[in-house]
Amino acid sequence: MRATTDVVVVGGGIIGAAIAWRLSAAGASVTVVDPAPGSGATRTAAGMLAPVTELHYGEERLLRLNLASARRYPDFVDAVQAATGLDVDYRQTGTVVAAWDAADLAALRDLAELHHSLGLNSSMLTARELRELEPSLAAGLPGGLLAGDDHAVNPRRLHHALLAGATIEPQAAVSIDAGTVTLADGDVLGCGTVVVAAGARSGQIAGVPATGLRPVKGQTLRLRADRPVLDHVLRGSVRGVPVYVVPRDGGELVVGATSEEAGYDERPRAGAVHDLLHDAQQILPAILEMELLEVSTGLRPGTPSNAPVIGAAGPGVVVALGHYRNGVLLAPITADAVTELVLHGRTLPAVAEFGLDTAVVMS
Ligand code: GLY
Repeated sequence: MRATTDVVVVGGGIIGAAIAWRLSAAGASVTVVDPAPGSGATRTAAGMLAPVTELHYGEERLLRLNLASARRYPDFVDAVQAATGLDVDYRQTGTVVAAWDAADLAALRDLAELHHSLGLNSSMLTARELRELEPSLAAGLPGGLLAGDDHAVNPRRLHHALLAGATIEPQAAVSIDAGTVTLADGDVLGCGTVVVAAGARSGQIAGVPATGLRPVKGQTLRLRADRPVLDHVLRGSVRGVPVYVVPRDGGELVVGATSEEAGYDERPRAGAVHDLLHDAQQILPAILEMELLEVSTGLRPGTPSNAPVIGAAGPGVVVALGHYRNGVLLAPITADAVTELVLHGRTLPAVAEFGLDTAVVMS
């Protein structure tokens, strides 16, 4: 057995990277085990920080966690940027949701009522207000909604900054146990605590407790415009099908995302590219003139409740799994909660109802 660091984090996506960064900042020595850190869901993610516009009916428990993490984002970004000198393109611009037809607008009104009943920052927009906020939108859209506190960050930049000074073991983990991680080449790493944060593939690692994880494939496109065309994150509902467009520095836009239950198949699908471009151009016609830079696919780690599982899984093992559609948003609170648990044995109240004991596990 090779003695390593205080903590070994299995999985170097946005969650594993944030945990490693926070633990290191608190004085722990940390190794991240991952053959290609950030090449999974983190690379595909658009980076919406969207507690309000990602809210689904019946997910108020998850909403509270999402809101708590969103509140931590400004300080989290400040700390990462100050420590690394890297800019992560954090945009506090809010999100505009455009309706495509009267039925989409009626659905948005229902959603706005739910938002108001929960005290969320959300207001309906007339057709005119929508066009005033985003003049590049298609003519004739009937109206929309503004979620002023739903922001965005560039997950690739954030991930790069988080791992800037990290110790990486570039291999897959095949099994874990209390304080040990066995790697693909047979080497065994010894440490004080193992943290499992390997996204949709976590359940394939022997020794990781069952959480009912399932991979939900998402496909995104990256495009570049000659000039910036959006001031806000743009979401749309085109005949009931959701689509989003997230602006980045330098005229880049991310269009997403499909949601496909296709096992672990990560190959891009031509029909998905077609559907995304078709729906996005219904609300933002300029899309079709832009340079197509990239097609990416990743696997969201879904759980039966759509909420993550964060907590102790026995002596020397902690899990941070199942962040599904909110991995980038939940990175700060997950990192804080795992750090508190690993270093002080305390459960952050905000994650108390997301432990393994309360997770709904599908058999
Ligand atoms: N949070 C956006 C998505 O999962 O597509």
